[in-house]
Amino acid sequence: MAAQIISGTEISKKIREELVNEIETLKQQHNITPGLAAVLVGEDAASKVYVGQKEKACRKLGIDSYRRDLPGDTSEADLLALVAELNKDPRVHGILVQLPLPKHISAERVIYAIDPDKDVDCFHPVNVGKMMIGKARFLPCTPHGIMELLRRSEIPTEGKHAVVVGRSNIVGKPIANLMLQPHPGGNATVTVCHTGSRDLVTYTRMADILIVAVGRPRAITADMVKEGVVVIDVGVNRIGKTPEGKPILAGDVDFDAVREKAAAITPVPGGVGPMTITMLMKNTLKAAKGSL
Ligand code: GUN
Repeated sequence: MAAQIISGTEISKKIREELVNEIETLKQQHNITPGLAAVLVGEDAASKVYVGQKEKACRKLGIDSYRRDLPGDTSEADLLALVAELNKDPRVHGILVQLPLPKHISAERVIYAIDPDKDVDCFHPVNVGKMMIGKARFLPCTPHGIMELLRRSEIPTEGKHAVVVGRSNIVGKPIANLMLQPHPGGNATVTVCHTGSRDLVTYTRMADILIVAVGRPRAITADMVKEGVVVIDVGVNRIGKTPEGKPILAGDVDFDAVREKAAAITPVPGGVGPMTITMLMKNTLKAAKGSL
């Protein structure tokens, strides 16, 4: 079977076009420009790239970006003071503190300090709780991106068996929750597998929709899936460098082999990745509208 390739690049482009129009309308009708503050602590190379991509997306969409780069030895108190300042700043509708933070800073305390109305990552426990009970104000960016990929690719989810591999707070737990909510695009039967699961393959072979976020290159092989599965690959693993020094990326799924059995599959790169930043922009717009 030739799998449908679910292009996050294409779907993301379409959503960004919609956002540009909505942002323009907000400016014209209410004189409000959405603003996103991105805080980066330290010199982590991957985090620098991600924050740079978020800044660039803001510029392209007409969102004001307030980037704050702090040295790696910044104290937790100083970071909390910055968050408090951003909470008060009316130009800033969304705040994201890039994770991971240096070890001497408690990510939990910093996340708790962000005003839930500005928590565009949807990491604050108030927002996580609201999502759990189906009353979300924001949805977390990667899981929201996955839901949009499924919805816009017209993949039926109702009554399907969705198997999530990975139980992180950022992807596994929230996507499992969103897939089981009784709304269109959800209403699936959900199984969550993790490092403590025995006999993983028994579950992955039962999946109608397989969502993988484990952070190990090509961990899901063709023998682990059934014919006709829909595969969403959240992994972005650097497996080497090109002669020009560019990173070579692989997903958590053995794409070339699994696409032969799948009905639809996301590539890496160009699948879930572009959707995450697009959903961050969508949340920032939502936060700005919420400030009206
Ligand atoms: N680090 C890796 N992914 C994310 C994300 O979605 N948001 C933030 N703030 N940090 C991250």
